Amino acid sequence: MTGQVTKESIEAVLQRARERTMLLTDSVDDRELIAQHSPLMSPLVWDLAHIGNQEELWLVRDVGGRVAVRPDIDELYDAFKHSRSSRPALPLLDPTQARRYVRSVRGKVWDVLADVRFEGRELEVDGFAFGMIAQHEQQHAETMLATHQLRSGPAALVALPPPAAVGVHKLDEVTIEAGPFLMGTDDEPWALDNERGAHVVNVGTFAIDRFPVTNGQFLEFVDDGGYSRPELWSRTGWRHRVEAGLRAPQFWEYDGSRWWQRVFGLDEPLHERRPVVHVGYFEAEAYARWAGKRLPSEAEWEKAARWDPREQRSRRYPWGDAEPDETTANLGQRHLAPAEVGAYPAGASATGVHQMTGDVWEWTSSGFHPYPGFRAFPYREYSEVFFGGDYKMLRGGSFGTDSVAARATFRNWDHPIRRQIFSGFRCARTISERS
Ligand code: AVJ
Ligand code: FE
Repeated sequence: MTGQVTKESIEAVLQRARERTMLLTDSVDDRELIAQHSPLMSPLVWDLAHIGNQEELWLVRDVGGRVAVRPDIDELYDAFKHSRSSRPALPLLDPTQARRYVRSVRGKVWDVLADVRFEGRELEVDGFAFGMIAQHEQQHAETMLATHQLRSGPAALVALPPPAAVGVHKLDEVTIEAGPFLMGTDDEPWALDNERGAHVVNVGTFAIDRFPVTNGQFLEFVDDGGYSRPELWSRTGWRHRVEAGLRAPQFWEYDGSRWWQRVFGLDEPLHERRPVVHVGYFEAEAYARWAGKRLPSEAEWEKAARWDPREQRSRRYPWGDAEPDETTANLGQRHLAPAEVGAYPAGASATGVHQMTGDVWEWTSSGFHPYPGFRAFPYREYSEVFFGGDYKMLRGGSFGTDSVAARATFRNWDHPIRRQIFSGFRCARTISERS
């Protein structure tokens, strides 16, 4: 959201989220909605009612002060009460009940929105709670998209193929000069608690890949024995590689002569110029060592994405302060795959780094820690309870991420072994330690 938040802009962003949710849940039958497609994921019908329940908790009850719609189901849809793998066995709302529930909550939200004034309570200033709930629904829409990728059987979703590269690109690096930059934000109205506090960070001179690592580049690592050379892996990474039997990115298949990738129910020849996706942190780390590089820290990543050395300021997005559109970033499930590297020249950063927003989430070497002066808002369970845990930060958003949650300050995290998410990476290299 830029500039003034209005009731009309809130209505549009909530409606967009709901259209996405409906597409993801109406495209499979009831049996598939209640099925467990992977122990890593919730049944889609859980996500659906959980989206409605969070909306009820924050917008209907808290902001609106209205009577509860279904207080009896809060416990079922509390993500901390039941693990994803145990959710199919719960007495969940069935698909018809879940659809009716989210519709009824949304109806009350329109009344709350009509009455709200964007002042007074902190939750209401700039419509924060509405922005938070739109982001919550879209984050679950991305999770549901990952569930679609895990389901077996023919494709349920269709989309236009992502754009091809504009021109021919050398997969080179960009040097980011040492010096302070402003990380995090004080002026994004809908920034979540973990992005807040703009603060000065100093990093030494480093080089960062101009593009995310491609399938073609990753294939060279695979062909060079990358998955069978422990010296390329961290000790924990190698142990995981062996125990999990990893041999290639998830959804890659070798037919005895060539590699294929399974993309939402279709088998496609490996797209060599597209960013690699569905790799875990440990695989990214091993590739980087093989390439004589390392992963960027979160601060380095954000500096490369946002810092404009000429104007000496941090931008909202790599390309500037304008909201994303179809020329600057591959976001919003418009395409169901990352685009070739070089497909978004208009989305490059001030320093010429491409595709830092959209396409694939990028692993960084940093764990999840609060910024200076962190204050949990509006609830500890969004960020605070995860600080210091077994997580690595992912930045930049993917083709599955909506623009409402794709600010260049947005922080995502997951366990290093996870790869059902739309995760890729790019490498970095220290040029000078001195900052
Ligand atoms: C920020 C993506 C790690 O999906 O677990 C959804 C977002 N928080 N509901 C997640 C979230 C509560 C969160 N991630
Ligand atoms: Fe949630």
